[in-house]
Amino acid sequence: MAPETPARPVALVTGSSRGIGKVLALKLAARGVDVVVNYKKNADLAEETLREIRAAGADGLTVQADIEQPDDIDRLFAEVTERYGRLDLFVANAAAAAFKPVSQLKLHHLDRSYATNTRSFVLMAQRAAELMPDGGRIVTVTSYGSLRAFPTYAALGAAKAANEAWVTFMATEYGPRGITVNAVNGGLIDTDSLDYFYGSVPGMAPMETVLEKIPLQRKGTADDMADAIDFLLSDRAGYITGQTLSVDGGLTIVAPPFWADTTSPLRDAVLGASDAS
Ligand SMILES: NC(=O)c1ccc[n+]([C@@H]2O[C@H](COP(=O)([O-])OP(=O)(O)OC[C@H]3O[C@@H](n4cnc5c(N)ncnc54)[C@H](OP(=O)(O)O)[C@@H]3O)[C@@H](O)[C@H]2O)c1
Repeated sequence: MAPETPARPVALVTGSSRGIGKVLALKLAARGVDVVVNYKKNADLAEETLREIRAAGADGLTVQADIEQPDDIDRLFAEVTERYGRLDLFVANAAAAAFKPVSQLKLHHLDRSYATNTRSFVLMAQRAAELMPDGGRIVTVTSYGSLRAFPTYAALGAAKAANEAWVTFMATEYGPRGITVNAVNGGLIDTDSLDYFYGSVPGMAPMETVLEKIPLQRKGTADDMADAIDFLLSDRAGYITGQTLSVDGGLTIVAPPFWADTTSPLRDAVLGASDAS
């Protein structure tokens, strides 16, 4: 049976059962976009996202697919094609990697990180572009580990850096077809994965010691990230392509010595009197 001709724009957001992907899916639904909700294992959470999409007045479907597996990617896009026959917006949001020092990364960590985070982005962007004959938008979600080195983040940070490079090549080649390709690079964003990073990696520095060094002095929210992604997916961003937009409260613009480590009288000018004064 031929796919229905979609009345509304159609988006695919990987990893939209929770976290940033879910908040983005609901923002898109609120502005009349149908959303394909992809997830790996939390079917119940994906169904809840779809229920909330429908409550917002749009529609969509849930598709279980592990983006580490090329066969799953093929099946994901086959389901999108069968249901909608085209795509307007594609967001490569899902990610996963082992958090270990470089010296402890084994072959399977390297292979799995590449497959899950970088190979999947390229395979999915190729398929998404095929479904965008009249132009479209592609955004990949990266993180400040692409720009700055910090403990245990090498495997994922290097993959995110690779994706930001892929964005420039894709933007160049897909631009003539009216498809923009950009990255949104997050700092510390308040989701399950941030809790895991600071709560479950043995010996990790306390999150408070990082937050105090961020110019805006707080974690980002999933909403902060989704707003930036939604902007790049919108008509307002039609002439922006090949870019990486940081949403990190200023984390990546500062360097040691940090204001948080100064004491009175210097500290008072920016952070108020320190306990030591
Ligand atoms: N949180 C941060 O501090 C932070 C900072 C910068 C950038 N980011 C980036 O933001 C993006 C989203 O992160 P988040 O914090 O919102 O994540 P999250 O809350 O941990 O949610 C992860 C989502 O990805 C899905 N997922 C995980 N592995 C998958 C796989 N192999 N195949 C398909 N889906 C998979 C999960 O599905 P299930 O529910 O089925 O498990 C879930 O929907 C990631 O690219 C991450 O690197 C996060």
